[in-house]
Amino acid sequence: MKPVEGTHRGTLAPQLIITGLAVLALAALALFWSTTPGHALPEYANRTGEPCATCHVSPGGGGPRTLRGLLWASKGKPDKVPELAGVMAAPGATDGADIYQIACAACHGKHAEGLFGVELVNSGLSTAKIRSQVLSGRIISGMPSFEGKFTATQLDALSTYVATISSGAAAPIPNSYPLDPGHLTCPSTPTPDNPNCGGN
Ligand code: HEC
Ligand code: HEC
Repeated sequence: MKPVEGTHRGTLAPQLIITGLAVLALAALALFWSTTPGHALPEYANRTGEPCATCHVSPGGGGPRTLRGLLWASKGKPDKVPELAGVMAAPGATDGADIYQIACAACHGKHAEGLFGVELVNSGLSTAKIRSQVLSGRIISGMPSFEGKFTATQLDALSTYVATISSGAAAPIPNSYPLDPGHLTCPSTPTPDNPNCGGN
């Protein structure tokens, strides 16, 4: 009878291992499903008809969300992304170059050299064309509409600034500005206002 017991044990052990593995695999699968969101993420762009930049700070998607993206998620992700009524893109900015850096540089590059958005340097675009592109956006390619996001004066300053770059009349902002050297000195006889830098 011993050999029979032996064969039993011999077939039981692999069965136990297989059952155990199957249970583990199911548990892993359940964990994976419960932590995976219901939608493929870039699909939000298709569903809402909005570019990634509507909801993501990074124009290519992923990473931190914009205010509109956060509002959309908090409203239960409806098919239409709610507008942030009255929220301006560059509140208080009046200089065209400043407005460009705030609202456009993330996509078109600090020097308008092209990044996610196309290069604007020497592109020959007119002020009117730039203005209409800014207002309408290029939704399918990923440029949002800035309708209602600038005051009329800001839009003028921005379009004029971008036009001078696109015509080659003005160079985009430089990489750095020269600064005066620091004025910190360490006197050998320290005063309360000007200590001796602790011997450094
Ligand atoms: C309508 C808003 C919306 C749009 C448009 C959108 N996303 Fe998202 N995306 C989200 C939200 C919200 C999350 C957080 C995960 C979730 O809620 O499912 C997310 C998450 C992601 C993630 C996972 C990493 C992370 O940051 O959580 C990636 C990657 C991503 N999105 C890429 C994209 C890309 C690429 C596009 C454009 C093709 C895009 N998204 C368009 C709202 C959006
Ligand atoms: C989220 C990214 C993004 C932002 C922000 C953005 N753009 Fe764009 N822009 C694009 C993309 C992408 C294109 C290319 C569209 C295409 O090829 O159809 C484009 C195209 C353009 C064009 C048309 C270029 C041409 O040759 O026809 C102009 C002009 C322009 N952008 C100006 C601006 C200005 C000015 C701002 C700031 C107010 C701005 N864009 C902000 C992504 C962006």
